[in-house]
Amino acid sequence: MIMKKLLGKRMTLRVKFILLGGSILAAVMTVLFCWMLVQSEEAVMNQVDAQAQSLLNQIVITRQWIADQDGLYVRKSAARTTNPFLPNTDIVDRSGLHYVLRNPAMVTRQLSELSGNSKHYRFRITSRQLRNPANAPNAFEQDALVQFERRGFDKTRNGIARRDIEDGVPVYRRIIPLRVEEACLGCHRDQGYRVGDVRGGISVTIPLDSAVAAIARTRLRLISAGAAIILLIAGSLYFIVHRLVLRPVDHLHQVAEGINAGQFETLATIRSGDEFEDLAESVNRMTQRVRTGYEGAVKSLAAAIDARDPYTRGHIDRVARYTFAIARELGWSREERRKWKMGVVLHDVGKIGIRDAVLQKQKYLTDDERAEMQAHPRIGAEIAIASESDLLIRELPAILYHHEWFDGRGYPAGLKGEDIPPIARVLAVADVYDALITDRPYRKAMTDENALAVILDGSGTQFDPEVVKAFLAAWAKGFADDTLVEDDSDLVLERT
Ligand SMILES: [Fe+2]
Repeated sequence: MIMKKLLGKRMTLRVKFILLGGSILAAVMTVLFCWMLVQSEEAVMNQVDAQAQSLLNQIVITRQWIADQDGLYVRKSAARTTNPFLPNTDIVDRSGLHYVLRNPAMVTRQLSELSGNSKHYRFRITSRQLRNPANAPNAFEQDALVQFERRGFDKTRNGIARRDIEDGVPVYRRIIPLRVEEACLGCHRDQGYRVGDVRGGISVTIPLDSAVAAIARTRLRLISAGAAIILLIAGSLYFIVHRLVLRPVDHLHQVAEGINAGQFETLATIRSGDEFEDLAESVNRMTQRVRTGYEGAVKSLAAAIDARDPYTRGHIDRVARYTFAIARELGWSREERRKWKMGVVLHDVGKIGIRDAVLQKQKYLTDDERAEMQAHPRIGAEIAIASESDLLIRELPAILYHHEWFDGRGYPAGLKGEDIPPIARVLAVADVYDALITDRPYRKAMTDENALAVILDGSGTQFDPEVVKAFLAAWAKGFADDTLVEDDSDLVLERT
């Protein structure tokens, strides 16, 4: 109802399932995969942050160790010059060798210069009160240092981190505060620091290009896996729903349409062991009831006609047996033969409109009487059409054409050859054969041999030669046939 309102038209169960199931599945999977994408990105960034924190920790330990040694002296050389911010600290040993002092700040700076060559990370020391202008803070560091000084070392010791862009490249920055230790005052006393003051920070920058690439790879894999999972789940769900619901519903629909068209031979064939099997059995029982009622009514009508002509009594039952035995020899399936059950029974229904004086006349008919008698297929057709019942109208080929001749000299339409419906061609042979071997008011019954000779003689003129051949085969077998045997074999059906 909702779907119909939304889309404004009627939809099959299959379309509804695909639209509704597909939408729900897509929504659930989209939320799930978005969450997984966020989680995976967070995991990568946590790893980057752990790397930044380890690096900062290592730098702090290194600085602490150098401070504990009151700085290091290294041999003076062209590359190892006097620290311009620590004048008057050079020394000369007894052998005349020159040494220059390296305090924690200078070691940190030189290490940071070396780290600048690494593509994996960079770090630097920075302060708002500069001795070395190269250590001037960037915007991120400036903001962080202001916070460190305002909130104090203890509340900001874990530092501040954020993602940033540097020269168009995504980077991850983390900065921690540096506290003034006793050892620092040796070099920085003149800047007014006291022990415990925040006097700057150590900042680390990690390029995120490889992390971003890793996140993109993960995203691609997740999307591919997600699409595959959605297809797999959707396919499985469709298969299950198709097997359990759509197929039985389609089948029951076809059966119902068959019943509507009067095809009572079509039975529901569901053996699923669930409610659909119960429904199929109910439909079959209903079909049987309708069929029995319909057939009972038709047989009563046929019996009433039969009863008017004592010489043809039993004719209908015999003609039915011959017809179906011949059809069987022609290779018609049992289902196909059973389709014409009522057509054969009703083939002479038009005789109801023939006067008793003609129908029951004990002598040869006059031309006028014969013409009246030959009107019975047309009268039968008119009765069927007037009923406006599909069930009767579908029997017209048997009712209207069973007196047509293969060479076109029959009545009422003068149809020829294969223009005559197959059931009428078969019925014609069976009808004539029964007439020949039964007593008639105007003649005695023929012997079987004579009757066979008459039928053979009519092959290709009155009768279809193929039908005559099948008739001979059926005759040789005593017209054995199971078409009209009522059983439940139709109900033994394949398991769905
Ligand atoms: Fe007839």
